[in-house]
This record gives sequence, C-alpha cells and structure tokens, in this order.
Amino acid sequence: MSMELAKDLTRRSVLCGIALIAVGLLPEAANAAVPAVGVKVKGKKLLVDLKANKALAKVGGVVQIDFSDGSSIAVVRTAPGNKGLSAISLACTHQGVTVIQQDKQWVCPAHGSQFALGGALVQGPARSALQKYPITATATTAVIG
Ligand code: FES
Repeated sequence: MSMELAKDLTRRSVLCGIALIAVGLLPEAANAAVPAVGVKVKGKKLLVDLKANKALAKVGGVVQIDFSDGSSIAVVRTAPGNKGLSAISLACTHQGVTVIQQDKQWVCPAHGSQFALGGALVQGPARSALQKYPITATATTAVIG
C-alpha cells in the first residue's frame, strides 16, 4: 500500500466515523418526545386535550410538558382506551437530571440510568421508577393530578 493510499484510507475512516456518529444521533432526535399542545391548568390539575395531541392516539406515543421551573412530565400512551395513559415525572430518581426519550425508553444523560416509557426502572444507578402522577381520561381529555 502506498503512503498516499494509506493516508487516504485513514482520512476516509475518520470521515466515516463522523458520519456514523451523525447517523447515530439522528434517531434520538427523531424519537424525542413531542411537546404537548392544548394543555390547561385547572386548580392543581392539568388538562391535556387528547384530540390535539395526536401522538397519544397510538400505543407508545409520548408528549412532553415542560414547566417554567425546568421540570417536565410526560404523558405516555401505554395501552388503548381511557385507562391506557400514564403521566410520569421526567426527573431521574438518581439525582434529578431530566431524562431524555431514546427509542422506547427514557435515558438519563448524567449517569446512564434507563427507564421504560411508562417509567419503570430498567437500569441504574437510579434505584426506583420515575415518579407517576394520577391520570384519568375521557375520549377527549386527560386530567393529571
Ligand atoms: S441523575 Fe440520572 S443517572 Fe444519575
């Protein structure tokens, strides 16, 4: 192998490495939780318009509600029907860092804890599931709190 070819291959593998990293990042962005729309505060409860949040029509769908204090909760469609919704805090139960959706789970960017979409603990260092909030729903509205 000539010196020039060796240099070219080395440069190409580095470029391929960068491309793979970029491709690896794309699914994360594509799977990020969709921001919720049509959310109203009523007393100490949150009302989520289910018709406006199409992501919640399908099992595995997620919408995220972000608050001005930096905290976030997610509404997750875990099963069909009015009882098939979960509302979970996105604060990691290890040290409180906000978890991020990656494919069908939540991953903590701080130390790598992993949680199922519904909040169950998959992998530590966190030792407990994401906090759940009471949620009830009709065909049109979910009520959290
Ligand atoms: S804060 Fe989430 S794993 Fe440590």
